[in-house]
Amino acid sequence: MIIRAKTKDLFHGRPLSAKQRENSRLNLEELQAGHTVLRSMPRRLVLELTNACNLNCMMCGRNAATFQPTVFQLDWLRYFEPILDTVEEVTLMGWGEPTIHKDFVQMLELIHQHDARIYFCTNGMQLSQLENAIFDNQVDVFAVSVDGAKAETNARIRRGSDLNKIVESLRRIKQRQRTSGLSYPYVNFVFCAMKSNLHELPDLVHLAADIGLEEVKVVYLTAFDSILSQESLWDCRTEVEAVFQEAAELGESLGVTLKLPYLQGEDPAGEALHRDCFVTWRDFFLGSDGMVRPCMSTPVQFFAFDMNRPFEDMWNDTHFQQYRAQVNTFRMDEPCRRCYQSSHCNWNQKRSFLQMEETFAPAWSKVEA
Ligand SMILES: C[S@@+](CC[C@H](N)C(=O)[O-])C[C@H]1O[C@@H](n2cnc3c(N)ncnc32)[C@H](O)[C@@H]1O
Ligand code: SF4
Ligand code: SF4
Repeated sequence: MIIRAKTKDLFHGRPLSAKQRENSRLNLEELQAGHTVLRSMPRRLVLELTNACNLNCMMCGRNAATFQPTVFQLDWLRYFEPILDTVEEVTLMGWGEPTIHKDFVQMLELIHQHDARIYFCTNGMQLSQLENAIFDNQVDVFAVSVDGAKAETNARIRRGSDLNKIVESLRRIKQRQRTSGLSYPYVNFVFCAMKSNLHELPDLVHLAADIGLEEVKVVYLTAFDSILSQESLWDCRTEVEAVFQEAAELGESLGVTLKLPYLQGEDPAGEALHRDCFVTWRDFFLGSDGMVRPCMSTPVQFFAFDMNRPFEDMWNDTHFQQYRAQVNTFRMDEPCRRCYQSSHCNWNQKRSFLQMEETFAPAWSKVEA
C-alpha cells in the first residue's frame, strides 16, 4: 500500500474513547467551518522533550542553528493531565532526541495512565534500554529514523548511529510483540532521502520486512546550508520516480506500507505556497524552551507557556486565532510562505527542498519556566 503523509488524519491504533471521539468530531467540524476560536481541544499534543541529541546527523537543522540546549519539564506534562483523556495522541517529537530526556520513561508512564495514544520519533540508539517501557506503557507507535540500508551509509549521514544495533533492538521488540500476541507497537522507519542514499531505499524496504516493521516513510531532505544543497533531490525527479516505483512494488509484495512524498510536479497543492495547513486546529506544540509554536518547522514563537494560565485560554490565544485566520490565505506569514514541514509543504516548490540562508528554526533562547 502506498500512502501520502498525514494531514488531517492521525495514526489509527487502539480505539478512541467516546470522549476522544466527540472532541475529534467537534474539532474537525470547527476546522471545516474555519473557526478561529475553538470549543474543541486539540487532537494532539506535540511535545519537544529536548533540543539536545546523542547524534550529530549531517542534515539536521540543529547543525545550522545556534542554540542552547533546553529541556522539557516534567511538571509541564503534569499540567496537561486534565486533557490527556480528550486528545487522541501525545507525540514526543521536535528537534533533538526525546529518548535521552532523563524523565522519558516517567513521561510514558504518566501518559499511559490516560486514554491518549503515545507516539514518539527516535534515532533508535536507546531502544535496547526502552524495550520494557514500550510494552509496560503500551506505546502505540514509534518511528525510527535511519538513512541507509547499509550500516556505513547510515553512519555517514547519521553520525554516531549504529544500524546493526538499531536492527537488533527492533528485532527483539518485534519478536516479543509476536510471542505476546500484541497489536502494538506499530513501528516505521523514517528515511530522509537525498542523492547519496536514494538508491538504498528498496533494500531498506527489504530490511523492514525482514524485521517485521509495518511501514517505511520517506521524507525528502530539506537543505539548510549550501553544502547540503548538493544532496537535495529537487532536480532528480526522474531518478526519484524510478526508485519510488521499485520500493512501492517491493512494499506491495513484502507487505510493508510505503509512505511517500509527492513527486515534484504532482503535488495536488499545484501552485500554492503550501498545502492547506491544519496544524493550529489539530495540534498544540510546546517546545523544550517553554515556547508555544504553530508547528515544529518554523522559527515563529507564539508565546511563553504559562502553567498558571488555563489551557483553553492558551489554545485560543490571539496568536492561535490570527494563525487560524491567515495561514491558508495570502496573508499567511513569511515562514509559512516557504513551508518545509513534510506533511504540509508543497513539493512542487523548489524552496520546500532548499532553505539555505533562511531562518528555519527559533533561536532557542532559554525561557525560565
Ligand atoms: C529532527 S529529528 C528528531 C527526532 C529524532 N532525533 C530522530 O532523528 O528521529 C525528526 C526527523 O527529522 C528528520 N530530519 C532531520 N533533518 C532533516 C532535514 N534536513 N530534512 C528532512 N528531514 C530531516 C530526521 O531524519 C527525523 O526523521
Ligand atoms: S538524531 Fe534526530 S535530532 Fe539528533 S542530529 Fe539526528 S536528526 Fe537531528
Ligand atoms: S510552517 Fe507550514 S506546517 Fe507550519 S504552520 Fe506554517 S504552513 Fe503550517
